[in-house]
Amino acid sequence: MKDKQKQRSLEDIPEALRDIPISPSSPSSFNPQWIMVGLAGVIMVMLAIFGIMRLVSSPSATNTASVEPSPSPPPTPEPETVENILGHLPYEEADPSQLKAITNDGRIKLRTKAANNFLQMQRDARASGIILTPISGFRTVKEQEYLFFEIKRQRNQDTRKRAEVSAPPNYSEHHTGYAIDIGDGRVPATNLSEKFEQTPAFRWLENNAAKYSFELSFPPNNPQGISYEPWHWRYVGDADSLKTFYEAQQLENRSSFEENTVN
Ligand code: DAL
Ligand code: ZN
Repeated sequence: MKDKQKQRSLEDIPEALRDIPISPSSPSSFNPQWIMVGLAGVIMVMLAIFGIMRLVSSPSATNTASVEPSPSPPPTPEPETVENILGHLPYEEADPSQLKAITNDGRIKLRTKAANNFLQMQRDARASGIILTPISGFRTVKEQEYLFFEIKRQRNQDTRKRAEVSAPPNYSEHHTGYAIDIGDGRVPATNLSEKFEQTPAFRWLENNAAKYSFELSFPPNNPQGISYEPWHWRYVGDADSLKTFYEAQQLENRSSFEENTVN
């Protein structure tokens, strides 16, 4: 009652002269709508805070589409391991029935196609005054075992040093029957030596061997890290010989690439 009188007396004073404003929230003018508005405001603020917290804690703040749990990544395939020892690649021993002699005594042999091409190349070189002398062709794993370990022992060579000039057994191109060591019949002192590259036979081979499908296996700075062997040539004139050498090389390159990218 008293309050109502006070309210009325206040309303009687002109608004500009009042020092107490008539509050709309006074009990007399209580409006439940204001509570609803307030509640809605609080909820909106809470939702906004919740949204910001989710964005900040998300691993990809910008990727709002990735609400679904991403499927687990496919298992990485095991890198293909390539067998190689000190840069030498594995080769299978040719079957004796696939071999043909290239010397009169029958001691040096190559695969039949390689043998025929070598003999033709030898005849053509001879016609130009060049003597291509076969030093070594097909070798068994047993023979390579002797060459690698026994010569290493005789020369008191460290394994790595030996492997720079000779392949361990099971890793020689000579097992394939496609590889041949060639000397200059007029300069035998250069046999199996880097000096062979200064001979007329080597120069002739450089210019002509490709016509007979022979190529140098170990040029200077070859990727396998084997010493330069100007005397060692291999036949790459049919599908089998290409597969034998280039498939092995590709695998070797791939494994080196993987090694380099992993490290
Ligand atoms: N002389 C080379 C390295 C080999 O036997 O394959
Ligand atoms: Zn050789």
